[in-house]
Amino acid sequence: MSLYERYILPHIIDMGCGSKAVQMQRRKVVPLAEGRVLEIGIGSGLNIPFYNSKKVDFVWGLEPSEGMRRKAQRNLNRSAVEVKWLDIPGGEIQLEDNSADTVLLTYTLCTIPDWHTALRQMHRVIKPGGKLLFCEHGASPDKSVLKWQNRLNPVWKKICGGCHLNRPISKYIEEGSFSIKTMETLYLPMTPRIAGFNYVGIAKKA
Ligand SMILES: C[S@@+](CC[C@H](N)C(=O)[O-])C[C@H]1O[C@@H](n2cnc3c(N)ncnc32)[C@H](O)[C@@H]1O
Repeated sequence: MSLYERYILPHIIDMGCGSKAVQMQRRKVVPLAEGRVLEIGIGSGLNIPFYNSKKVDFVWGLEPSEGMRRKAQRNLNRSAVEVKWLDIPGGEIQLEDNSADTVLLTYTLCTIPDWHTALRQMHRVIKPGGKLLFCEHGASPDKSVLKWQNRLNPVWKKICGGCHLNRPISKYIEEGSFSIKTMETLYLPMTPRIAGFNYVGIAKKA
């Protein structure tokens, strides 16, 4: 891991993912988490204030980046829910099958290199009847925006730790054997359109 990824990127991600517009999207899904929750790519812990501690038993926080874990510490110190760190050696989530009631995925599917395996793993660990809560940015349905997302993606990925601008999030979720129950799509206010098309919703094991 480079010095940039270790010491600078966590601050950039924390700032970008901490905007008011993004926080408004978190508010739509995070309070719906219940029981044993697995948060994929917990980052700097920006979802932590939005958990409903009356409904959540605890959170498994999966985060491969040491820099992001360090950055999360301040939010963890103030957390009303217990967070247990999880590693992901070889892309394998270290949990039994059917062990999570909720999997939470916010602004992370854009970054996971092998998204297909990751979604298969989420599908494995989520209980029958459990839910996948998602809130992600990705490919715009507008051709002119998508054209710029495709053009700028290689540079964006380098600066933003592997984040893709142009992933078709709902398609990926469905290809991961989830069925989407509700979904809202929108451009975030005060956000460049190339990074601002959001998919926010709930999916279940298909
Ligand atoms: C843009 S950040 C979002 C962080 C957080 N989910 C949020 O909403 O603020 C993407 C996160 O995904 C993490 N990540 C990268 N590869 C991953 C993987 N294979 N599995 C889980 N998380 C991963 C990164 O380390 C980073 O913390």
